[in-house]
Amino acid sequence: MSIAITNIGELVTNEPELGEGPLGLLRDAALVLDGGTVAWAGPSDAAPPADETYDAHGRAVLPGFVDSHAHLVFAGERAEEFAARMSGLPYAAGGIRTTVARTRAAAAEELRANLRRLVAEMARQGTTTVECKSGYGLSVEQEERAVRIAAEVVEEVTFLGAHVVPSEYGDDTAGYVRLVSTEMLAACAPHARWVDVFCEQGAFDADQAREVLEAGVKAGLMPRLHANQLHAGPGVRLAVELGAASADHCTYLTDADVEALASSRTVATLLPGVEFSTRQPYPDARRLIDAGATVALATDCNPGSCYSSSMAFCIAVAVRDMHMTPAEAVWAATAGGARALRRTDVGHLGTGARADVLMLDAPSHIHLAYRPGVPQVAAVWKAGRQV
Ligand code: NIG
Ligand code: FE
Repeated sequence: MSIAITNIGELVTNEPELGEGPLGLLRDAALVLDGGTVAWAGPSDAAPPADETYDAHGRAVLPGFVDSHAHLVFAGERAEEFAARMSGLPYAAGGIRTTVARTRAAAAEELRANLRRLVAEMARQGTTTVECKSGYGLSVEQEERAVRIAAEVVEEVTFLGAHVVPSEYGDDTAGYVRLVSTEMLAACAPHARWVDVFCEQGAFDADQAREVLEAGVKAGLMPRLHANQLHAGPGVRLAVELGAASADHCTYLTDADVEALASSRTVATLLPGVEFSTRQPYPDARRLIDAGATVALATDCNPGSCYSSSMAFCIAVAVRDMHMTPAEAVWAATAGGARALRRTDVGHLGTGARADVLMLDAPSHIHLAYRPGVPQVAAVWKAGRQV
């Protein structure tokens, strides 16, 4: 059954050939969805007939958000840790182990229900593609369970066995890296598309990250990397060298890091909810964009460093505090996320794209940053079905 969304005040296609600027903006537009894909996009008065019509009454329509970085297989929460941070304690990645203990103790059904709850919460807010990492299991059985559950619910699954070294390994990081790169990877690869490592002081260094990522690539996974989150370091350059789809966080960058990103296909994925929730300095989005790097925005939704699933919040912060224009931020949260996941079917609304559509209760995409914290979702379709 086809559906024509008519009387769209502003249509963000992310197809520069279809409309104005990088967002490919069309005014007084229509969009026809058929069989789960976009069949047509163009001026309202030229729209072909469809089985059903949905009148947008002049509201804005965008591609569904692509949240290319989240950690959603976990149990429990860490609100007390957040409160302590807000009264002055620094963020310590050691908090990850609190969630590891809670996650290991949880039944599969609890993890599955929590994951489904979060993905539904995201969908209601306009997110139609989600990436989800493991990384709170940190044993062969627990990581395999996490990626298997993730694969039941989301399309983009990332094996993050190298999140931190679990306490039972003490300071035997090399031994744990060996486990991750061999037995754990073999158990997890069949359920995942991506391999990721937390490359950071206190987690894994460049050689250890390389060992895990190269083993992942041999097992058929594609690399992405948590890089330069808490300190400057080798992560970004390693991501570029390995042809990773994305280097995520990018908070502490040298000129060489920016240069490396700008001259590569590796997307710089910025996660402003993390800096908000850990009270760290925001990454310098302007420097990256001005240098020519591709920037994506994502939530990093997880119980520690950022327990927000809101892409609209990321956009508002990126505009207000990271000096991105509203158009750049909306592009980064849709097309940018798609690039970070090497997806060509989502993040845009050209003919043939998956019919992932977000209708705002607002006349333009600018309202996402202009009205922070205000629910503005009028309707969401995923693959042509209304959510
Ligand atoms: O992306 N940096 C590493 N991992 C997560 C935090 C996870 C946690 O604190 O539980 C992140 O910020
Ligand atoms: Fe993360």
